[in-house]
Amino acid sequence: MTTQEGEDSMMYTLKVNGKEETCEKNKKLLDFLREDLRLTGTKDGCKQGACGTCSVLVDGKSTKACIFNLEKLLGKELITIEGLSQRQKDVYSYTFAKTGAVQCGFCIPGFVISAQGLLNVNPNPTDSQIRNAIKGNICRCTGYVKIVEAIELAAKMFREDTPIPKEICNGKLGEDFMRVDAVEKTLGTGIFVDDIVVPGMLHVSAIRTPYPRAKVLAIDSSEALKHPDCVGVLTAEDVPGNNKIGHLEFISDWDVMIRVGDITRYVGDAVALVVSKNKETLDEIKALVKVDYQELEPLSSPEAAMAVGAPRIHENREGNILAHERLVRGDADEVLKNSKYVVTQHYSVPFTEHAFMEPECAIAMPDGEDGILLYSGGQSIYDEQRECARMLGIEKDKIHVKGHLVGGGFGGKEDMSVQHHAVLAAWCLKKPVKVLLTRQESLMVHPKRHAMEMEFTTGCDEHGHLTAMKATIISDTGAYASLGGPVLQRACTHGAGPYRYQAIDLKGFAVLTNNPPGGAFRGFGVDQTSFATENNLNLLAEMVGITPWEIRRKNAVKPGDSLPNGQIVSKNSALVEALEAVKEDYENAKVAGVSSFFKNSGLGVGVPDISRCIISIEKGKMHIRSSAACIGQGMATVITQMACETLAVSPEMIVVEMPDTKRTPNSGTTTASRQSMFTGEAVRRAAMELRYELDIGRALSDMEGKEFYGEYMPDTDPLVNDKEYPVSHAGYGYAAVVVTLGEDKKIEKYIAAYDVGQVINPKACEGQIEGGIVMGMGYALTEDFKLENSVVKSKYGTLGLLKANQIPPMEVKFVKAQDLHEGLAYGVKGVGELATIPTAPAIAGAYYALDGKLRNKLPIEDSPYARK
Ligand code: FES
Ligand code: FES
Repeated sequence: MTTQEGEDSMMYTLKVNGKEETCEKNKKLLDFLREDLRLTGTKDGCKQGACGTCSVLVDGKSTKACIFNLEKLLGKELITIEGLSQRQKDVYSYTFAKTGAVQCGFCIPGFVISAQGLLNVNPNPTDSQIRNAIKGNICRCTGYVKIVEAIELAAKMFREDTPIPKEICNGKLGEDFMRVDAVEKTLGTGIFVDDIVVPGMLHVSAIRTPYPRAKVLAIDSSEALKHPDCVGVLTAEDVPGNNKIGHLEFISDWDVMIRVGDITRYVGDAVALVVSKNKETLDEIKALVKVDYQELEPLSSPEAAMAVGAPRIHENREGNILAHERLVRGDADEVLKNSKYVVTQHYSVPFTEHAFMEPECAIAMPDGEDGILLYSGGQSIYDEQRECARMLGIEKDKIHVKGHLVGGGFGGKEDMSVQHHAVLAAWCLKKPVKVLLTRQESLMVHPKRHAMEMEFTTGCDEHGHLTAMKATIISDTGAYASLGGPVLQRACTHGAGPYRYQAIDLKGFAVLTNNPPGGAFRGFGVDQTSFATENNLNLLAEMVGITPWEIRRKNAVKPGDSLPNGQIVSKNSALVEALEAVKEDYENAKVAGVSSFFKNSGLGVGVPDISRCIISIEKGKMHIRSSAACIGQGMATVITQMACETLAVSPEMIVVEMPDTKRTPNSGTTTASRQSMFTGEAVRRAAMELRYELDIGRALSDMEGKEFYGEYMPDTDPLVNDKEYPVSHAGYGYAAVVVTLGEDKKIEKYIAAYDVGQVINPKACEGQIEGGIVMGMGYALTEDFKLENSVVKSKYGTLGLLKANQIPPMEVKFVKAQDLHEGLAYGVKGVGELATIPTAPAIAGAYYALDGKLRNKLPIEDSPYARK
């Protein structure tokens, strides 16, 4: 396989997918496949051997392509996802779609390869053999349940030589319609930004400060510019417009690059951008740029940042408090004084990392005389357009953004990370450029789930009726504003839980530090405060002499009650039904924990929040145009089913377009569990317009080119208001979950009852909940994002992400209220975040039930899952 023609002219010849392929360099197999052979179904998720997205078959055995250099593969036969037989492709496409095993899809080709590696030697594997075979593959979306089902079904179809069944589905709500993007994601043919090559494309990488807090004294790029591949080195001086970006328009505090003379704020800060003709030489060129720093002591905790005399992290602020929230109803002190039982506990939760499978990547290029075309894999093309235009000092419509597949986001791709750097380089050099973060950069750069320190006091009467609660929440919001303010708000608005109280008093502070920014992450502050509230409820139940399930059932809000934030509970709320659905599971278990919680759909609290949709008739099909980013949740499928329901047409009539600022109207960010309800409603409204035309007898062929528009924007009240019953959010989903422990002290079973209103697609919804549960299990038991003096110490492989062989059996039940409020989005409510929130408190509750020891810190340190 290797032909040696002298040391300098080594050739490496491999058999890939049955064909001889040659390479002149002894490079990583993954680079050879993706860069040289353009076999992009094999994904680059970490290049650290830790994620499995790069799996290929080497002599029939699943192997990670990022580990081996070509010289190690002498005489081997390689099969990539593209090289599977047509029968194998057909079967896996069918089974992964049928079982709902595909969400963002970035991990799926790797799983298919690992499955085939197993089936090559064991055509009839057991559940645990399958889990063992895929334990080197991480999926952050699905919780593995449906992936295992897909592999089981594939094995059966191969064994029995079953033809691919023809699926007939009318796409209506409530049907297990197979996801429209399942096949392309299973076979790796769907396009993520890093899969794209533009002719003449240059490569850009940022030089980032090694110190969380340091003054940049000088940047000397003269040696770097002598490198034959170096096309340019850009600094803050090259930013033509505003050097500050920020996801929230009114707080743009994040430097595109740190200027000479300024002070860095965290280890993700860029000081320069290096542009190379070749990706391989980026590191060499970066090493030639000399940056002088004066290292300064970082502020690594809220205590340090709030200490008297602490330096300000942002010069233009009075201190290091980014945001302060107070939510008061009634006199909590007075009520607590008169309460029979009161508990006060301190809770501590760490930063955690999204660990989405696809590292951030953007491509930008000149577009006409004075514009830029940006390919993005973010959570909102319109936010990116606005921020990039501001950075360049040009009109927004000069930035044309096209969205591509997003390999998971969970909130971590709301802030820009690469898009602005790509746009700036393309603008300055007038050339197409790609910016791709390494996995380690990705860990350093994008915002995390906030670490919080919380003191919660909760009271109840002698029967266990809750009376009042008080909380102080200190949130470490890191170096930049990101979404630290809204996250703190949500921590407060939901902190008391979905229960009835006479009085509440929550106060919170988001404190700037030199740690990576805290930002949006599935749950948005509520994962943290639910952990505190729910544990306090267990302690009160014990004092009263009732069970944790009973105290929740006694206090659970019903339609017509008011939530702790004052909002009247709507008729379509089914928390009580959810609790009742897990009652037997709880009571029949030897050792069990329970938790119930809620989560909003939509931004709420008076923030303008609008979704839009255009349906246009093109070549006899209905094109649905919305900018709602699919980050794995299945937006195109949601939209298709909403349209099929409204228009009574078959799914074949629907074409869902990808987000594009020139084609799709602004549907807002994919955040706050809002898109199914908000964009779903906008689609329904646009479809109703079209439906009217069809109902009066107009033929589709007579409407060629015609557009139908729908939009939805609910009215909500600001957090601080003088209304007795304010409307804080457009809707809420509710959940109750039970965790049982086995003899080995591991989780024996996880039972979850969810009220998400009208379920659009049961399989997809179940899959999202299972994925959320596993993410919540990681939060409870294993995940931690390690920092030392604000320097990132974690790698992808040490984050503590759970693997397929660590997942307990799960049962998901759907409950709903009598009145679904069907007028609005057919009664659909969001599920994305709610899927994660009750998990950690239920697990902590189970361990408390086991040994009476309160776990007030995450991850739990003394469970069988704990890592050294
Ligand atoms: S890219 Fe190879 S294991 Fe992650
Ligand atoms: S579908 Fe597995 S990581 Fe998204």
